[in-house]
Amino acid sequence: MNAMPALDPAALQEAAKRNLWLHFTRHSSYADADIPMIVRGEGQYVYDQHGKRYLDGLAGLFVSQIGHGRTDVAEAGARQASELAYFPLWSYAHPRAVELAERLASYAPGDLNRVFFTTSGSEAVESAWKLAKQYFRLTGQPSRYKVLSRYIAYHGTSHGALAVTGLPDIKIPFEPLPPGGVRVPNTNFYRAPAFVADDVTAFGVWAADEIERAILREGPESVAAVFVEPVQNSGGCFPPPPGYFPRVREICDKYGVLMVSDEVICGFGRLGHIFGCERYGYTPDIITFAKGVTSGYSPLGGMMVSDRLMEPYTKDENTFLHGITFAGHPVSCAVALANLDVFEKEDLLGNVRAHEGAFRSTLEKLYDLPIVGDIRGDGYFYGIEMVKDKTTRETFNDDESERLLRGFLSHALFDAGLICRADDRGDPVIQLSPPLTCTQEHFDEIEQILRSVFTEAWTHI
Ligand SMILES: Cc1ncc(COP(=O)(O)O)c(C=O)c1O
Repeated sequence: MNAMPALDPAALQEAAKRNLWLHFTRHSSYADADIPMIVRGEGQYVYDQHGKRYLDGLAGLFVSQIGHGRTDVAEAGARQASELAYFPLWSYAHPRAVELAERLASYAPGDLNRVFFTTSGSEAVESAWKLAKQYFRLTGQPSRYKVLSRYIAYHGTSHGALAVTGLPDIKIPFEPLPPGGVRVPNTNFYRAPAFVADDVTAFGVWAADEIERAILREGPESVAAVFVEPVQNSGGCFPPPPGYFPRVREICDKYGVLMVSDEVICGFGRLGHIFGCERYGYTPDIITFAKGVTSGYSPLGGMMVSDRLMEPYTKDENTFLHGITFAGHPVSCAVALANLDVFEKEDLLGNVRAHEGAFRSTLEKLYDLPIVGDIRGDGYFYGIEMVKDKTTRETFNDDESERLLRGFLSHALFDAGLICRADDRGDPVIQLSPPLTCTQEHFDEIEQILRSVFTEAWTHI
């Protein structure tokens, strides 16, 4: 059978505008402009339909850890599709899901050894909340259903995951959401309250203790879980202050609340470890993951828990009443195994740990620009907050932010050949999360593009 002939660039644009619905996108902004069309990738770079090259400074969407165009990983998927393209994990197992679960268990901290697969991060978060709710019903604490999560944190878009998400703007159109989502402070030290603004440790203690105060306010007998990312993505990469996570762990233990480490972005090498919680020395009760587990060569997500959490589900007729047709898809599991082989063969965790200091210091050169207020993050995961006044940390108002981010920066960075994220869900930031194979030459390219575009941006304010 012949493959469908490829559409020429103009026909592709026309068809995209006519038939495709983009996610989280203002379609009106493409009324008189082309939709960016990425047609292939190789290593740390992707190419558009005109052959122009872009440094993929966001790993697609925090996904492409090993980089693009790896035929060894693609071929592992193709081999699996020929052997067994699909079978569900509902009452059956298949070898690739078993092998992957065993491998993930070997990497996981503490007693986390059991994997429940999903197809995405939202489903992983959704599944973790459902697991927690049913777990407490099975163990005689049926009133525990609430979830605590941090302001501005993004945990996904399905109704449950959206209730865990802390971004009002993307929730309001879909209300009423499932009840029980409660917000606590995030770890944005740059915007810390004045009484802890000079002491990062005191700030961390305060932010963690706010979780305890929220649990007490809500009633501990009603709280099921606390969701935290190792480094919070939304808002622009907030690393944890020293001592923060051990204190959160202590609070969760004190009140019998499950601690969920949402590692959809921070897992699989982004912070130089397979799981980000290792970096900050805590063991959660549940890890949710997706994205980098396959480096995007096929979709997969999941959650890891301990036998302790599964135990009530193994008794009598008890069943976790939850499942997803494509969860743990054989092709995705085969691809994930091949992806993890690349991690090991090429020591990608070692690469991140060896070069993260250079990544940070290269980005920190940008501090000489008046628009650069704060550069924060860890590993290969950074946010650069832009400000109107460096001394007072004054941020941009809504109109300025709109003009700066949507009106100028997003296009200008793309035109200059850098894929990154310009985001104002919190204060305006540029986010970087390049493939884990990047080295100094890529950091320099990122810095040079940001320098020239930020310099021009300043003239547009
Ligand atoms: C921390 C976190 N959780 C959950 C999600 C949702 O993942 P997905 O888009 O795969 O549903 C994301 C997506 O970026 C995320 O960053």
